[in-house]
Amino acid sequence: MRVYVTRPVPPTVRGALEASFEVSFHPSEQPPAREELLRGAAGAAGLVTTLGDRVDAGVLDAAGPGLRVLANYAAGHDNVDLEAANARGVLVTTTPDVLTHATAEHTMALQLALVRRVAEGDRMIRRADAWLWAPTFMVGSGLAGRTLGIVGLGRIGSCVARLAEAFGMRVVHTSRAGGLPLAELLREADVVSLHCPLTPETFHLIDEAALGLMRPEAVLVNTSRGAVVDEAALAHALRAGRLAGAALDVFEHEPAVHPDLLGLENVVLTPHLGSATAEAREAMGMLCVEALRTVLLEGRLPRHALNSDACAPA
Ligand code: DGY
Repeated sequence: MRVYVTRPVPPTVRGALEASFEVSFHPSEQPPAREELLRGAAGAAGLVTTLGDRVDAGVLDAAGPGLRVLANYAAGHDNVDLEAANARGVLVTTTPDVLTHATAEHTMALQLALVRRVAEGDRMIRRADAWLWAPTFMVGSGLAGRTLGIVGLGRIGSCVARLAEAFGMRVVHTSRAGGLPLAELLREADVVSLHCPLTPETFHLIDEAALGLMRPEAVLVNTSRGAVVDEAALAHALRAGRLAGAALDVFEHEPAVHPDLLGLENVVLTPHLGSATAEAREAMGMLCVEALRTVLLEGRLPRHALNSDACAPA
């Protein structure tokens, strides 16, 4: 049974895939071009894709009627057209839980890097700027005693809340099930941290109006999806001094970053590293293997399927 994988994967994951299937891998960390993706998918019974692959009806049709499962190597799935998968009876799975702690840790790392000016200090030393300790030199702010506003109290948001409490932060949240209204959270929080999925409802949730509700001393952290934030509006607010800083791991037009953000010292940028620990990435890969095996070899419904109702394996 043929499986197409759109990126290189950790060796253990590769071994596990090759032990069960006839596998072809896209050889580069750069995404396959559209034509290549369509060619790779052709005739596959299973696909392993990442958040950088747009999986739409065209890709599913290129795979053909033998395609039964699409394992998305991510907790998010905004890159996949679920309706198109449902219409073709293709099960779609994701890799939640195993990346929760890694992503929450990265969120804390970004908060600290921003408010304690870690990246800025590193850049200063590398430029060989003159510096010496002084009571007023490069002073930042602490996390203890500050209010963290978590937008989206799911698995990752909840884990960030626990870590933040250990840092002495007061945590408020907004979620589908309750918490504060967003406007209130934005007015109250010293640090606003985004943990909601990207959906039509959350696209540009943090726009000019939302940014206008935040206090000028507050900062924004985003480890969810770039398009939850209107990046141009964010860059504008930062340049106008209406916001103290931002730490971004995800970008609206990934991998491109709004050029106005690049020159700002009060902005910390990382290249979508939320889940980038060896443990998390291996566990994510093994969940993909499990999904493929469960559907293709055992004919059962896999864990973490998004559309079991719409599709039953043959
Ligand atoms: C996900 O899994 O959705 C993350 O953004 C990738 O680490």
